[in-house]
Amino acid sequence: MTASTIVFANNKGGTAKTTSTANLMVALTSDGFRVLGIDADPQGHLTQLFGARDAPGTRLEDVIVVGDLSKAPSVVTERADPQTKEQIPLAGGVHLIPCSGDLAEVALGVARAEDAELRLRNAVALLREHYDYILIDAPPGTQPMSALAIIAADYLVIPTRPADLDMDGSEELYELVDGGSYADFNPNLRVLGLLVTQEGAKWKLAKETVLTAESADMRVIPQHIPFAVGVGRAPRFSMPTVLLEPDTRVALAYRRVAKWLTEEVAIHA
Ligand SMILES: Nc1ncnc2c1ncn2[C@@H]1O[C@H](COP(=O)(O)OP(=O)(O)O)[C@@H](O)[C@H]1O
Ligand SMILES: [Mg+2]
Repeated sequence: MTASTIVFANNKGGTAKTTSTANLMVALTSDGFRVLGIDADPQGHLTQLFGARDAPGTRLEDVIVVGDLSKAPSVVTERADPQTKEQIPLAGGVHLIPCSGDLAEVALGVARAEDAELRLRNAVALLREHYDYILIDAPPGTQPMSALAIIAADYLVIPTRPADLDMDGSEELYELVDGGSYADFNPNLRVLGLLVTQEGAKWKLAKETVLTAESADMRVIPQHIPFAVGVGRAPRFSMPTVLLEPDTRVALAYRRVAKWLTEEVAIHA
């Protein structure tokens, strides 16, 4: 069995790409799957969310620079406990390829190199046999790393808040994938759908979002993620909400999305 690779991307920032990647990594791991997360955003928020900034091991920028790897890159499974300094497993037992701020510069350099677009895709290919799911957290916008991340994946999930500018970002990305420039490099990429996140009291807006999406032929994942203040506190505990507050609506919603993703991927695998 080889991994299905899912990228979380939106041209807009703040749409819960990182939050969704982290929570779904943990939810899928606790469902018994072998899961690797890849932090492809030079901001390093996924790395930070798991407390893995200083974890020893390979960084994504190293993986991409080496390029002609003959064996699978090493992954991070542990971090130092800030109090005891002992090595402890990453929250939820997930595996991670972290990154540091150097990734931005590396990605720019890589963008000029031959076969640049395939660097991350090739690295992912070496890791596939070890995992059931590889989840990639992409940066916003159309910077080189977004392209590398999207080209490396089998499936795309577009997290979006129920707001106009997020929907613009979603649509722009959808057009790049659906017959646009990304499609040239990764014609088999399948868009699983929009994931509505941070849905609040403005539920009407969410309904509008679904309608806007459907009129642009974009599918919306049936389970939405509600807004909850507690989600913003997750990084300080190096633990996503699914673990930190497992009985909350947000945690339960992410668990349902994880189930939905596995069923959806099983259809296409
Ligand atoms: N369901 C939610 N409820 C409340 N806040 C959320 C929720 N999801 C994400 N956030 C917060 O919104 C901000 C942006 O989320 P993040 O995952 O970093 O977005 P992105 O990776 O798309 O830029 C973060 O501060 C995060 O904690
Ligand atoms: Mg992010």
